[in-house]
Amino acid sequence: MFRIAAALIVLGWSVGVMDAARADQTAPATNSSQTAPTTGAKPVASTTWGGAYTEAQAKLGQDVYTKTCAECHGQDLAGDGFAPALKGPEFMGNWNGLTLGDLFERIRVSMPPTNPNSVTPKEKVEIIAYLLKQAPFPAGKADLPATQDALKLIKFEATKPVK
Ligand code: HEC
Repeated sequence: MFRIAAALIVLGWSVGVMDAARADQTAPATNSSQTAPTTGAKPVASTTWGGAYTEAQAKLGQDVYTKTCAECHGQDLAGDGFAPALKGPEFMGNWNGLTLGDLFERIRVSMPPTNPNSVTPKEKVEIIAYLLKQAPFPAGKADLPATQDALKLIKFEATKPVK
């Protein structure tokens, strides 16, 4: 009985997190079309197709991922049946239209599930760079920004926009 109640609480909570992420999306994104060089925390890319991370950052992220996420999500990001895949159609569909700020927030508050604070926010941004590389989205010349506000300006677009 207690286990069922606990499971329901956890389930309700994760749905809440996703709702919050989607609600966020309706806020107008400032400067999202701007691609001027970075000053301060502003990212260079406005979407995941704009070269939003660097190869070096993704490499760092791969190391952290291997140590802290791979046991559940798989070294190949394919998931383990319980933990979902972090690449492929379902993952792309889950995040399409949201921002990297939303993805960061999801990982920041809930992953790894047993102790989200065991991985620093900076390392979690590096992991996102690795996930972007594996998607695969193109790398660029500037690192992903390290703040949620700046990450919110980068939109997750599953399919490449036609110019
Ligand atoms: C103990 C196993 C475990 C570990 C370790 C773990 N996860 Fe998860 N992860 C899960 C499970 C289970 C879910 C789905 C249920 C949930 O949301 O809690 C999930 C969901 C996710 C999601 C949401 C996927 C989607 O498309 O909605 C992301 C993103 C994620 N994890 C990233 C990470 C990252 C990054 C790490 C390493 C810092 C990590 N996880 C470590 C088990 C794990």
